[in-house]
Amino acid sequence: MDRNPPRRSLQRTNAPPNIPPTSSANPLMRFMVLGAQWVFFTGFSVAYLISPQICHRFVGYLEEEAVITYSKAIRDLDTGRLPRWESLRAPDMAVRYWEMPVDRRCMRSLLLYVRADEAKHCEVNHTLGNLDQNLDTNPFSVGVEQLRGGEVKAEP
Ligand SMILES: [Fe+2]
Repeated sequence: MDRNPPRRSLQRTNAPPNIPPTSSANPLMRFMVLGAQWVFFTGFSVAYLISPQICHRFVGYLEEEAVITYSKAIRDLDTGRLPRWESLRAPDMAVRYWEMPVDRRCMRSLLLYVRADEAKHCEVNHTLGNLDQNLDTNPFSVGVEQLRGGEVKAEP
């Protein structure tokens, strides 16, 4: 028996009732989403040129909110407030991306993986937000060779 229903079926059965699946969004909605993305991309790019520190801080706070949101989702799942998610498998794309073990391919595990990612993004962005762009070295620019015990070379 196939435990994985077709993707289309998953989207329809698990989408929140007030949000239409992406494939059914009308052209005006698609245009508005693309427009909003363009405005944000342009504005954020200009802001980054002006102050990378502020942009990293902003993203760090967004990531904090994401961690809170995923924590609430995990709590809701654990307390039975998301009954349809309790037996739902993680999507194949997520299983491949996080290389989820066979016995951990449920929505709760997926939320834990995503929350861990967001927590790391939060840490990275707040760290970059703390740096003086003209004086400090990016602590995340350490290469694999250096992590394996190689010598850390000073930047010129
Ligand atoms: Fe993130």
